[in-house]
Amino acid sequence: MICDILIIGGDGDLAYRKLYPALFHLDEADCLPACLRIVSVSRTALNAADFRNKVLLMLTEYCGAAPLNAKVQQRFLARLHSYSLDATSEAALSVLSREVFTDKSRDLITYLATPPAIFAPVCQSLWAVGLARENMRLVVEKPLGHDQESFLQINASLMSIFKESQIYRIDHYLGKETVQNLLTLRFANALFEPLWNNNYIDHVQITAAESVGAGGRWSFYDEAGALRDMVQNHLLQLLCLLAMEPPASLSPRSVHDEKLKVLHSLAPIKGRDVTDKTVRGQYTAGNIGSEAVPGYTAEQGATARSNTETFVAIKAHINNWRWAGVPFYLRTGKRLQRRYCEIVVQFKELPHVIFQDQTGRDSANRLVIQLQPEEGIRLHLLNKVPGLDDNFPLESVSLNLSLTDAFTDRHVPDAYERLLYDVMRGNSTLFMRADLVEAAWAWIDDIHEGWSTHKLKAVPYVSGSMGPTDSIALVARDNRQWQD
Ligand code: BG6
Repeated sequence: MICDILIIGGDGDLAYRKLYPALFHLDEADCLPACLRIVSVSRTALNAADFRNKVLLMLTEYCGAAPLNAKVQQRFLARLHSYSLDATSEAALSVLSREVFTDKSRDLITYLATPPAIFAPVCQSLWAVGLARENMRLVVEKPLGHDQESFLQINASLMSIFKESQIYRIDHYLGKETVQNLLTLRFANALFEPLWNNNYIDHVQITAAESVGAGGRWSFYDEAGALRDMVQNHLLQLLCLLAMEPPASLSPRSVHDEKLKVLHSLAPIKGRDVTDKTVRGQYTAGNIGSEAVPGYTAEQGATARSNTETFVAIKAHINNWRWAGVPFYLRTGKRLQRRYCEIVVQFKELPHVIFQDQTGRDSANRLVIQLQPEEGIRLHLLNKVPGLDDNFPLESVSLNLSLTDAFTDRHVPDAYERLLYDVMRGNSTLFMRADLVEAAWAWIDDIHEGWSTHKLKAVPYVSGSMGPTDSIALVARDNRQWQD
């Protein structure tokens, strides 16, 4: 079992907001081995006492409303160690190797919570000082490149030192409870699978809406845009889980193989196709609730002009027997009306209608899988309105499964909790195999190329709306509408 976790970039935002709180919850749930140490490394590390105090402060802020359990708090803080050093330098890392990680039989997880630009030199140094050994697992975060070529370069530098089975590429959406529930919904219940195809499903919508803006990370975001930041990874992963064939088992290989087939079956959106299958948008000033917010180019750190999209909508098709002719509408954006992430599976209308007046596109069955803020599943069904009316008035009602209500006494783990726990146990099912990332980039690169060849502009939308009107038109052209 894992005995040490080394966090490179341990004094950064990701570590404080996500990693330490997740590890604390795992400690609380008795999922950390007694001997486990958490070693933070960064160029500007604090001394031991200040570091523990800062982590404590962050735990109080990010671990939920209840006060921290005093016993767990004490145990957790005792696990923390902090070193101020440059992890790209062999000389600096050799100190850790000689003085901290002396027992080579202890498993080691190294988490690179750093920009990918330094992945290669850090991995070289880990190898040079003997830390990149067989019993090390390496965890890396997105962005893994900005296109397929740069991903392959980053990946080659990791693979020159580690085996694929040692590398855990995180897509934090895969750690979300409802995303795992998608697998359960589809493959642990007999109900949906017979209907899960183009005979019964009209179309699918995947929406990941955020109310925050690019704000504090403007310059990073401006290089990426919504397509690279959200679609290449999170949205395509959701699409894979929704569309893949039943895997033979939950083993990483079975699941990854099925997801890869979906990515390979995605119809490329190339050249002029981008003009009618994609929409780019950029937010302007507006209101989110009662708060007035600036436009994208007036955000702190913004340069005056930018054509970067903060919103993207795409009509995708999967070219295989199961999904031929079924559009998958994807959309994501910042500064939208509210933060939510939802998948809508819209079933087809009845083959023969006996309730003449009541049925129409709106009344066809709909399965809504809500990922956040609350997690739940709703199945919209038609029901007769009670009463003596001979016309059989019907109304859409929903079978509502709120995961929060159904499991009230359960702590719903944060995505990072699940993922870190899986790394410790060596289970990579919920991580990204290299060929999945590569295939996702190939699809995204075509769209980017189309955008630049055809000079597709990011059209303005007002903050607090649900994106540009072109996004409504994208779906309306097919006589459909977004289910907001
Ligand atoms: C990250 C993106 O991967 O996901 C961010 O880089 C985005 O831009 C975030 O805000 C959204 O994650 P969540 O879990 O809040 O939906």
